[in-house]
Amino acid sequence: MTALLNATGLAKTYALPRTAFQPARLLQAVAGVDLALAAGGTLGLVGESGCGKSTLARLLLRLVPASAGRIVFQGQDITTMPEAQLRPLRRRLQLVHQNPGAALDPRLTVAQAVAEPLIIQSLAKGAALRDRVAALLAEVGLGAEFLPRFPHELSGGQKQRVCIARALAPEPALLVLDEPTSALDVSVQAQMLDVLADLRERRGLAYLFISHNLAVVRQVCAEVAVMYLGRIVEQGSAAQVFGAPRHPYTRALLASVPRLGGSVPPGDGQVAAPGDGQVAAPGEPPNPAAPPPGCPFHPRCGMAVPACRSGAPPALVDGLACPVSGAG
Ligand SMILES: Nc1ncnc2c1ncn2[C@@H]1O[C@H](COP(=O)(O)OP(=O)(O)OP(=O)(O)O)[C@@H](O)[C@H]1O
Ligand SMILES: [Mg+2]
Repeated sequence: MTALLNATGLAKTYALPRTAFQPARLLQAVAGVDLALAAGGTLGLVGESGCGKSTLARLLLRLVPASAGRIVFQGQDITTMPEAQLRPLRRRLQLVHQNPGAALDPRLTVAQAVAEPLIIQSLAKGAALRDRVAALLAEVGLGAEFLPRFPHELSGGQKQRVCIARALAPEPALLVLDEPTSALDVSVQAQMLDVLADLRERRGLAYLFISHNLAVVRQVCAEVAVMYLGRIVEQGSAAQVFGAPRHPYTRALLASVPRLGGSVPPGDGQVAAPGDGQVAAPGEPPNPAAPPPGCPFHPRCGMAVPACRSGAPPALVDGLACPVSGAG
């Protein structure tokens, strides 16, 4: 199957300015990521806060320029494509944010918010525009009574439905969902996941689904990529990653959510027990502006051997394969 989206060696380095406390430094937010997503596919991207998930999403959507690497979307290299040429492709790549309140303009009604992308891209006008907007709202489970409402008159779940309707308006092939349910109550979260599953089935959409929540990722995604300090350390089918995790970091994440990955012992026993499938490996994530030498996971890895502290093991050089776990 040809990939809808293909990223190779994708990297983003931020230059941090000098401050009174720190010299100028480079922070590698994304450090050489290879990723492929088929049309209609579902890829979950998991990892702790600050590992680079949103930066990777922003790179793939060309919202920030890449420092290195290549992005091919629908067969076209968009890495450095001029904006004018990119514009028609942007329609096909849409983002849904974590915080629907911040994503909606408080001055626009629901009808105006959903109509806006259709008007900007000259996709519909007049009665056809009104019909499209009502149909999009119906697709996300909102009736016509919501059309004249403003964002402050909506619940969090209703706002997120409006954001999804707005993202669907230009008929995307890929939705990048960056923590789309993490700001919602658990019951609303479940409804939102049903809406997303229906949409995908009906429209053949592909999802890149970013989440801290392994339970949610397991429900939505056929493929899973695990990210640590800017790198994908393990990628595979959801069945493999959840059922037979290979990388020690994946094992630590799963062990932190007993009802998902309970078979893996938590190593040194200092695993946090967060609720609702939230991931947290033992120990503190390292500072990405000053990563540890060797394998960046070794200070937290219950399986680390001396080699992990000096030379980087193949896992974090080649993007896969931890010699300790035998991964790859
Ligand atoms: N514009 C920027 N300038 C400098 N550093 C940045 C910038 N954007 C992100 N970073 C840094 O890049 C790293 C990755 O951030 P990113 O937002 O991608 O993480 P994340 O995995 O999405 O985290 P979270 O789960 O908390 O949303 C962090 O250390 C962050 O501080
Ligand atoms: Mg993020």
